[in-house]
Amino acid sequence: MQKYIVGNWKMNGTSSDLQEISAIAALATQYPLVDIAICLPATLIARATASMPDFAIGGQDCHHEVSGAHTGCVSPPMLVDAGATLTIIGHSERRSDQYETNANICAKASAAHAAGLKSIVCVGETLAERDAGQALEIVLGQLEGSLPDDATADWLSVAYEPVWAIGTGRIPDESDVAEMHFAIRKQLISRFGSNGEMIRILYGGSMNGENASMLLAIPNVDGGLIGGASLTAVKFEPIIKAAA
Ligand code: 13P
Repeated sequence: MQKYIVGNWKMNGTSSDLQEISAIAALATQYPLVDIAICLPATLIARATASMPDFAIGGQDCHHEVSGAHTGCVSPPMLVDAGATLTIIGHSERRSDQYETNANICAKASAAHAAGLKSIVCVGETLAERDAGQALEIVLGQLEGSLPDDATADWLSVAYEPVWAIGTGRIPDESDVAEMHFAIRKQLISRFGSNGEMIRILYGGSMNGENASMLLAIPNVDGGLIGGASLTAVKFEPIIKAAA
């Protein structure tokens, strides 16, 4: 399975960053054995895709409807119209800040697929949940509720992002990542059969050039979803190199 390395720029980036995005796009030609993508703020997508039409650029969320009275929201066909080919859905920052539920996220993933977008659906436990010994139960529950029944590896990936590892510089123990990714794989196979074997499971949360080789070597870690370390080509490249 080819590794999938995806940058999540979150609420960062203006037109002055288009050159940095183009430096990141250049990495995709340099490392053809890695699938690379970057998920940008909606305001930058059309400009980035216009100058880098061959690079996979995505959004960070979408609405579950095609159009209508939803002030401030962006629909899947709008992302496609801007040139996006993928979107992140159900990031923990949206689950907490925007109160997104598993059902919302599932509907968004279906809508994204209907519009022709690939999706990365995020799951992950908080520190309190991990400390209470509930990490597996929480994550597998999110997975069950957030994935549409017709999910296939062609358009869906899962990202396991422990909330307490995001932006903190802390990562879980290797054995905890292995345990969680194995449990996710098992559930994907039991629900989606052979497709479940092929759905890529990314790890996210403080992945960087120093820890990427270790994380990406763990069984069932098929790539990474990277925040801070995806903001410059210089910081992003070592992760891509580790995946290659
Ligand atoms: P950091 O890599 O900055 O910890 O962010 C991870 C993340 O939330 C990616 O979606």
